[in-house]
Amino acid sequence: MSTRKRRLISREDIARRVQDLADRIARDYAGRDLVMVGVLKGVFIFMADLVRALPFSVEVDFVRISSYGAGTSTSGEVHISKDVELPLRDRDVLIVEDIVDTGLTLAFLRQHLANHRPRSLKICCFIDKHERREVEVPLDYVGFPVEKGFLVGYGLDCGEKSRTLPEIFVLEEK
Ligand code: IMP
Ligand code: MG
Repeated sequence: MSTRKRRLISREDIARRVQDLADRIARDYAGRDLVMVGVLKGVFIFMADLVRALPFSVEVDFVRISSYGAGTSTSGEVHISKDVELPLRDRDVLIVEDIVDTGLTLAFLRQHLANHRPRSLKICCFIDKHERREVEVPLDYVGFPVEKGFLVGYGLDCGEKSRTLPEIFVLEEK
């Protein structure tokens, strides 16, 4: 099966939406002790844009979560292959994720980070594929809701390909 890419979200729309999210986060976290925890690898471009759109500096850390199986959906079994390194106890933690699909990855990560006893724990995701949710996770900041399809670009990959494209594309069968 061969696929082609159809552009779904333009560079301009991405930039505008990232600034909107940063404005909301800036209002909500002004004067607080914010640590942003990004989920590698897909989040690296979104998070780089998001932190630079904030009017203050924040601390950043990263986790890497692996799910077994390399297909286009999560198998359900997830584990942490790179954990946080900063102390999170009594701090305001914001998880930053590229895309939420079934919700299994985030539900697991949320519980894992809650065990560190942060003062607050919220989630910001760039894309919410809400129709595919299997477990509910509270998403506090959402860039774009998308109904379905496999997306690439702006950090999102398909088997490590297309991650560095500056816009979001949906893969379609030819
Ligand atoms: P979930 O556990 O099913 O919510 O899966 C979330 C993870 O699967 C994301 O962090 C992505 O790494 C990956 N993923 C889900 N949907 C897509 C997609 O459309 N494009 C690229 N990666 C995706
Ligand atoms: Mg991911």
